[in-house]
Amino acid sequence: MKSYCYIDGQIKKLNQAMLPVTDLSILRGFGVFDFLRIYNQKPFRLADHFDRLINSAKLMNLDVPVSLDDLDKIIKNLLVKNKLTEASIKIVLTGGESDDGISLKSQTSHFFILMDDLCDMPSSVFKKGAKLITYNHQRVIPGAKNSNYIPAVLMQTKKKKAGAVEILYTDNDLVLECATSNFFLVKAGVLITPKNNVLKGITRKVVLEIAKKNKIKIEERDVLVSEIKTADEIFITATNKFICPIVMIDKNKIGDGKVGPISVKLLNLYKDYIAEVCK
Ligand SMILES: Cc1ncc(COP(=O)(O)O)c(C=O)c1O
Repeated sequence: MKSYCYIDGQIKKLNQAMLPVTDLSILRGFGVFDFLRIYNQKPFRLADHFDRLINSAKLMNLDVPVSLDDLDKIIKNLLVKNKLTEASIKIVLTGGESDDGISLKSQTSHFFILMDDLCDMPSSVFKKGAKLITYNHQRVIPGAKNSNYIPAVLMQTKKKKAGAVEILYTDNDLVLECATSNFFLVKAGVLITPKNNVLKGITRKVVLEIAKKNKIKIEERDVLVSEIKTADEIFITATNKFICPIVMIDKNKIGDGKVGPISVKLLNLYKDYIAEVCK
């Protein structure tokens, strides 16, 4: 993490940023956040990330204390202070201070922004493809990027042992999303992604826009676990993972076990899009 952060109206040294121990984020894991990347001093799809933060907060009865314009200015000041042009940032809105340790109290949330270097996956993952392991779980209030990542944290050891990049959440017969990414499947040239009970990722949104522009057919709908075995290609999307091709899920080989052409095409178009909007 970089030395300077923003908290409640001020830029501070990271080791001087404090939260009260009565905050519901600490006592109950109740809060929301968002995560985005900055290229060439330009926050990528900031308005989308801000809208999602507002929506996450609304779903949790919290209020975001800044406007999109404020946020843009804060990020730019923080970039200068940390002497960065490329960065990743985490924007956090806490549940706020509570009198009885469980009830929300309005206007007591704390709002902070942490900055770090960009963190990319190794290039071999994009060439050879990666593995997922599955876990039956549906996130609480899935439409909100809330701070409850308990299963994700607990499953990290198992994930690493299996040599996987992500944990794919299934809900009985349905595929939902990964612990920190969205899920896509390609079948007979059609791009299919779960529609319900998932966090609507910004990368997911951009991929759907790019696919539409390039005349690739799209289906946003419920996806059955059984469709994994007959998929031609699978990939996951997330801010830090871009479009990450998946060639194995648990013990099942996906398609011919190699990275598929639609995954490659979309990854290249996605990279071109970033270069274009952040030049
Ligand atoms: C649960 C979950 N789903 C999907 C995503 C992907 O979202 P994005 O593309 O905005 O990074 C994330 C990102 O962290 C996530 O936590």
